[in-house]
Amino acid sequence: MDASNLRKEYTSAGLDKADVHHDPVVQFRAWFQNAIDAGLHEPNAMILATATGDGKPSARTVLLKGYDERGFVFYTNYEGRKAGELETNPRCALLFYWGELGRQVRVEGTVSRISEQESDEYFTSRPRGSRLGAWASQQSRPVKDRSVLEERVLALETEYEGREIPRPPFWGGYRIEPEAIEFWQGRESRLHDRLVYRREDGAWRIERLQP
Ligand SMILES: Cc1cc2nc3c(=O)[nH]c(=O)nc-3n(C[C@H](O)[C@H](O)[C@H](O)COP(=O)(O)O)c2cc1C
Repeated sequence: MDASNLRKEYTSAGLDKADVHHDPVVQFRAWFQNAIDAGLHEPNAMILATATGDGKPSARTVLLKGYDERGFVFYTNYEGRKAGELETNPRCALLFYWGELGRQVRVEGTVSRISEQESDEYFTSRPRGSRLGAWASQQSRPVKDRSVLEERVLALETEYEGREIPRPPFWGGYRIEPEAIEFWQGRESRLHDRLVYRREDGAWRIERLQP
């Protein structure tokens, strides 16, 4: 799959209100599938931007693990920095950058924790090593040495030998319910296409923005 040719195809086809789906989730599904088909590395990697209660921003990469009409789901430690910020200020933004396709998708919305059952189901599907890693790491806190973490994992391996590893109570998913989703398609001469969907009175309104 030659992603540079795909990019040219998308660039010349552009993005028009008449061609996009009225439901941004369906539109996202199409673009996400394009990113998968193009063989991009970790097409589900997204930048998550959060801010403290007094507006100090921070950003980091997380992996999209599910999306539907309700929003976009990722998993993390509920006691790390991003979680602390999200618990006091649930407003956040996501950014997907699919450079080889000349595309980005921007999402703005509000997070809430997903159900314990949903987190359990995903946790159970993870490899054993990742499950132990979730228990071992006090995310975002300083640690003296890598060996401290490795020793914790060894101790956990012994503790859980021959047993199922339960989901740590401090680990689970968040869902970002979108209020706005922008699809950006790079075009010639910097006249890029931008279509933003905004939720208004329960319906999505689409607007073209200048590049
Ligand atoms: C490609 C990639 C994917 C990542 N996925 C996740 C993820 O799904 N969940 C997560 O908590 N951290 C993930 N991380 C690590 C985060 O970027 C970050 O280092 C960590 O969550 C701590 O962030 P915080 O201190 O702001 O809470 C990922 C990093 C990279 C580079």
